[in-house]
Amino acid sequence: MNILDAESDRSNRLLRALMRMPVDMTPVWLMRQAGRYLPEYRALRAQAGSFMNLCQTPELACEVTIQPIRRYPLDAAILFSDILTVPDAMGLGLSFVEGEGPRFAQPVRDRHDIARLRAPDPFASLRYVLDTVGRVRRELAGLCPLIGFSGSPWTLATYMVEGQASDDFRRVKGLLFSDPAALSDLLSVLVDAVTAYLNAQIEAGAQAVMIFDTWGGSLAAHHFLRYSRDPMAAVVAGLNRSRDGVTVPVVVFTKGGGSWLPALAETGCDALGIDWMTSLAAARAATAGRVALQGNLDPMALYAPPARLKAEVEAVLADFGEGSGHVFNLGHGVRPDVDPAQVGVCIDAVHAVSRRPLR
Ligand code: CP3
Repeated sequence: MNILDAESDRSNRLLRALMRMPVDMTPVWLMRQAGRYLPEYRALRAQAGSFMNLCQTPELACEVTIQPIRRYPLDAAILFSDILTVPDAMGLGLSFVEGEGPRFAQPVRDRHDIARLRAPDPFASLRYVLDTVGRVRRELAGLCPLIGFSGSPWTLATYMVEGQASDDFRRVKGLLFSDPAALSDLLSVLVDAVTAYLNAQIEAGAQAVMIFDTWGGSLAAHHFLRYSRDPMAAVVAGLNRSRDGVTVPVVVFTKGGGSWLPALAETGCDALGIDWMTSLAAARAATAGRVALQGNLDPMALYAPPARLKAEVEAVLADFGEGSGHVFNLGHGVRPDVDPAQVGVCIDAVHAVSRRPLR
């Protein structure tokens, strides 16, 4: 039997909602649901020594992926890894500096650096990610689906050119203005890299995939389509969107992309991630029911008094309104100092408020 045909429960609520099929209650998962706010994560992270070692040891990465699934009735697991493993596999030398975020030892600065780049073979240099995917699927044993992910070509390019996090994107935009052909070459290698990487995750067992375009919203409106949206559309077009006869839905999330939702729906994705600055009702109107929507509680609501947090959850559900095609999530990730009890309050409220009879 196709998993999508089963009675709606924790094993398929997410996949059904992403396909805009009716569900018994709104499925929920949270960006960064595995991470530093969980004491069990901090313990394993200390044991691993570094974040990269945690990512590169399938046994540990699998355990961290499953930690939040044990603690909460979440409707999906998300692979524990990072978007920057792809540029690392391209030879840029990734490290994480405590309190400062990611760093590349060999950033890509001009057309000469770009000409040397090749899309990595995920079955070789990203084998550890694929091993983690296989291990998580075996361990979950159908309890809930596993989401795989990648950064978008533009978002990966920002880190590769800046060499680290940036608040003004001066270097990568400098490249856009001074040598747009070189930036296009970089994005085209990244389209190949991301497509091969996501297809390898699907082959290894990822049941849905998400493209994180965290910095798409930093682009001027007239640059967004060419440098962020079009490369993502090329990735979506290259994905194997079914495995063993079951659809593998694709989610595209551009943070700050609220004014470009119709253009994002044209990537051919099944669902769009929505940040908290955009109303779900407006997003629904803008996309005219062509895609499912995932979002969009303000991550800061997790610091609110519990009664107020529940009211904010209700407001998000009411904003989406009746009908299928909603996956509850935050508008961005869980912060490291959030109280784990508050995450439980949020997840329980989503299920309690949205429970409905199956048609
Ligand atoms: O969501 C999950 O639970 C799955 C795991 C996941 C991580 N990173 C783990 C992580 C996912 C999906 C990501 C994606 C990611 N990584 C994005 C896109 C989503 C977003 O947040 O916008 C981006 C931009 C990155 C790059 C990145 N990784 C940064 C900027 C940082 C440092 C910032 C910070 O919070 O310290 C990371 C490190 C990182 N990735 C951590 C985790 C749990 C913290 C590392 C630690 O334990 O020290």
